[in-house]
Amino acid sequence: MPGDGPMHRGLLLSVAIIATILLVSGSTTNAHKPITSKYMYHQDVYPIFLAQCGGCHAPGAVAPMSLLSYGDAYPWAQSIKEELVNLTMPPWQPEDGFGRFKHGGSLTAQQLDIVVEWANGGTPEGVPVDHPVANVKPSWPLGEPTAIFEMPEIFTLTADVHEATRYFVIPSGFERETLIRAVDFRPGAPAIVRSAILFVDTSNKAAVYDAADPNPGFGVEDVSEFDTEQILAAWLPGQEAIALDGAAYAVPADADLVLRVTYKKTWTYEGLAVEDRSAVALYVATRDVPKVETMTLQSPSRLNTGNDQVVTFTTDLARDVDLLAILPNLATDALAVQIEALTRDGRRTPIVRLASPRPQWRTRYWLEEPLTLARGTTLEVQAIFKSDQTDGNLPVRFTLDLVSTPPVNVAKIGQAPVERNP
Ligand code: HEC
Repeated sequence: MPGDGPMHRGLLLSVAIIATILLVSGSTTNAHKPITSKYMYHQDVYPIFLAQCGGCHAPGAVAPMSLLSYGDAYPWAQSIKEELVNLTMPPWQPEDGFGRFKHGGSLTAQQLDIVVEWANGGTPEGVPVDHPVANVKPSWPLGEPTAIFEMPEIFTLTADVHEATRYFVIPSGFERETLIRAVDFRPGAPAIVRSAILFVDTSNKAAVYDAADPNPGFGVEDVSEFDTEQILAAWLPGQEAIALDGAAYAVPADADLVLRVTYKKTWTYEGLAVEDRSAVALYVATRDVPKVETMTLQSPSRLNTGNDQVVTFTTDLARDVDLLAILPNLATDALAVQIEALTRDGRRTPIVRLASPRPQWRTRYWLEEPLTLARGTTLEVQAIFKSDQTDGNLPVRFTLDLVSTPPVNVAKIGQAPVERNP
């Protein structure tokens, strides 16, 4: 039935909160408004920008403007309000309070309220504060890596090119299967590196493409082709690497590591050639730990959303598992998706809910703590599509990282998805 799922209730609630905020605060864009906001930039707004936006909206970083100084930030107040209320910035965060994640969620209702009131109430500066310089971190916060691999060559995003996705092949040189407990990434040109994904290729396919392309790395039309093997890391600007504790990704002997980098220039760099030579750092597990297994939650190939635009499908767990992380791969057009676990005693445990999925900001969501799910638990995925998408092929896919007890062949963990919607 339309409208009675927990997803619907959650979404309606969010919309209600936003509507209230807009109603209470008005939405005029007059720049010379009297100051009515009790919230000040330095005292109230800056800490939110630093924590939630600073990884990208800092000088020289990937976003078009810094939000870390008053002078840079306040002219953007109306635009900031819109991005936040539309849930488009920060890009593609898990909903606050629906599952708990290591990288944190989207803004809390209170943070949203502070920024919106500040934007509507004359953007007061408050008492100026010399904030400590942000982003001064060691280049490898997890400590000395076991191995650092640079891109084999410099890649240049030429003056006439605005954006590009390139794949760079890095032979691992591993003589035997190697257990990786963490992967970190360092952009060579932080201003243009939007995202990076590191995956494993044992097929030699990537090396063949690379050899055929005269420029450093290669580009392919159909990216799905390279998504089938283990993804070791999905990095976004400002996001710290997560080290696994008690589990590790297994990289087969002689495998190639393939680094997919997405480049995009903001207007600051338009018309300029920018060189990049990014690097990945690997941390090898020093003790024998279980291997991370993956499990795919995949929608039936052709979704029929009917009239209510909500699609539900489920997968039952055939083993006890500890869920570690979730990596979505979604159609651009979904409005929102969520995963819940339905235990045998009828309880629902929220796992993740994502609003306005944007493939360009695809990343892995690490659970704050591993979530133990017993055999027989049902994983239920719900997706809401826009009202004009009453049919069509809109795949919804999640890759779950987990360890299972006892460890099994990956393919056997989940059963075929069952579509619930008629
Ligand atoms: C992961 C990187 C990232 C994070 C985190 C992020 N942004 Fe952005 N933001 C961008 C990029 C890149 C753009 C440029 C538009 C684009 O290409 O998507 C942008 C654009 C914007 C714009 C629109 C600028 C325009 O051209 O109109 C606003 C406003 C904005 N961000 C505000 C925020 C706020 C506020 C936060 C934190 C609450 C935030 N962003 C967090 C990367 C980020």
